[in-house]
Amino acid sequence: MRHTKLDSFPKNFLWGSASAAYQVEGAYQEDGKGISVWDSFVTKPDTTFKNTNGNIAVDHYHRFKEDVALMNEQGLKAYRFSIAWSRIFPTGKGEINQQGLDFYSQLIDELLKYDIEPIVTIYHWDLPQALQEEYGGWESRTIIEDFTNYAKVLFDAFSSRVKYWVSLNEQNVFITHGYLLGTHPPAVRDIKRMFNANHIANLANASVIKAFKAGGYPGKIGPSFNYGPTYAFDSNPLNVLAKIDTEELMGFFWLDVYGIGKYPRTVIKQLETLQIAPTITKADEALLLEGLPDFIGLNYYQTAAVKASNNDSFTGKMKMNNSGQKGSSQELEIPRISKFVKNPYLEQTNWDWTIDPIGIRVALRTIESRYQLPVLITENGLGEYDTFEDGKIHDPYRIEYLEKHLSEIQEAITDGVQVLGYCTWSFTDLLSWLNGYQKRYGFIYVDRDEESERTLNRYKKDSFYWYQKVIETNGDYLNETGRK
Ligand code: BG6
Repeated sequence: MRHTKLDSFPKNFLWGSASAAYQVEGAYQEDGKGISVWDSFVTKPDTTFKNTNGNIAVDHYHRFKEDVALMNEQGLKAYRFSIAWSRIFPTGKGEINQQGLDFYSQLIDELLKYDIEPIVTIYHWDLPQALQEEYGGWESRTIIEDFTNYAKVLFDAFSSRVKYWVSLNEQNVFITHGYLLGTHPPAVRDIKRMFNANHIANLANASVIKAFKAGGYPGKIGPSFNYGPTYAFDSNPLNVLAKIDTEELMGFFWLDVYGIGKYPRTVIKQLETLQIAPTITKADEALLLEGLPDFIGLNYYQTAAVKASNNDSFTGKMKMNNSGQKGSSQELEIPRISKFVKNPYLEQTNWDWTIDPIGIRVALRTIESRYQLPVLITENGLGEYDTFEDGKIHDPYRIEYLEKHLSEIQEAITDGVQVLGYCTWSFTDLLSWLNGYQKRYGFIYVDRDEESERTLNRYKKDSFYWYQKVIETNGDYLNETGRK
């Protein structure tokens, strides 16, 4: 629908920005921290772009005060960051590493000093390596208890100061990359194992949310999900069906479990036919219903378009673009279901990610109509090359991207969607897991690249000042600039 007048962004809207421990902290072996699956995965050659790793990353561990001061200068109202499980429990369980807790306690205090709301992600992919070795990480139900204990330690330590918690970050991404595509640790390629690990992750997620509620901790908790709606390529009914199948398999298969505590029946039926369905007990079903969240965390980057697939088996053609060479990716085809195609109406980035601002409104509307839950946008942003010239970084492409997405969010708010806040990805430049340091997302340029850490100095990009104005005016600045 087209509105004649837009609602303002809500008062107390969380204007934020985000990061994840492995991508920013560095200090990977300091102050008692244990090794994570990512610390270990990146030591194998050719797993990441130019063999980059997060050993030093952008050194946020040592420079967090400088980074938080920059957040304050920008006027951020919220900062989403993740806690590295292996800093709190170096081997995933057992004795607490107090120095790990101290680090995050100081970070939280530093944020609160400037009235910046901490949004804490409990798990952003960096599983303690010891748990991977001991029982196969997410493939064992033992992790449910260990993950819940770890989360409770965080709730006990920080819930008087932290009001927003993200349980799991992008379960769909770490599970499919880790157990189907083999591109994230533990680099397994086995679809049955993937669905099993995914079910266990669902249980762990529900268990943590249940523990949060049972513990009577103040605040709100929910998972963050990487959701990009799928469009039918056109009105050919076969393509419309392909869209429905794809959204159920790649979106609602997770979102329904979060939002209503149940898997979509159609997907489970097909997995059973193929004998790759996870074992779901009655107790599991009960736990999923007990672990419903307060909000859905939305990580939105792009949408997809599909046609029906005529192939019976994998063509083996999917290829990700991790190099930044535009056009080097090859689209996925899911046999007998769908074939991903380029959307002729939309542009793509240098990493072949489709740019679709209206897609975020579609995502928000879908979540609202299916689950009626508030949404916290926990990630949205543009990964691009930036050029550093005489201490200046002009990034009009990033401003345009964020401006258009925020305008659509305002439309969605006017539609009636409850949006709690918006965190851009990311605050500083950081390590992009498989894409090295050249794919930059931040408001703050960090002087480092794949070859060298250089100075690690911070520089404000043009987008830093633009977002500062947006926050200052609670979004009104968008209407001056964004709706030409
Ligand atoms: C999300 C993750 O998938 O997207 C982030 O939660 C990640 O950790 C971001 O960095 C952007 O993806 P990429 O692959 O460009 O780093």
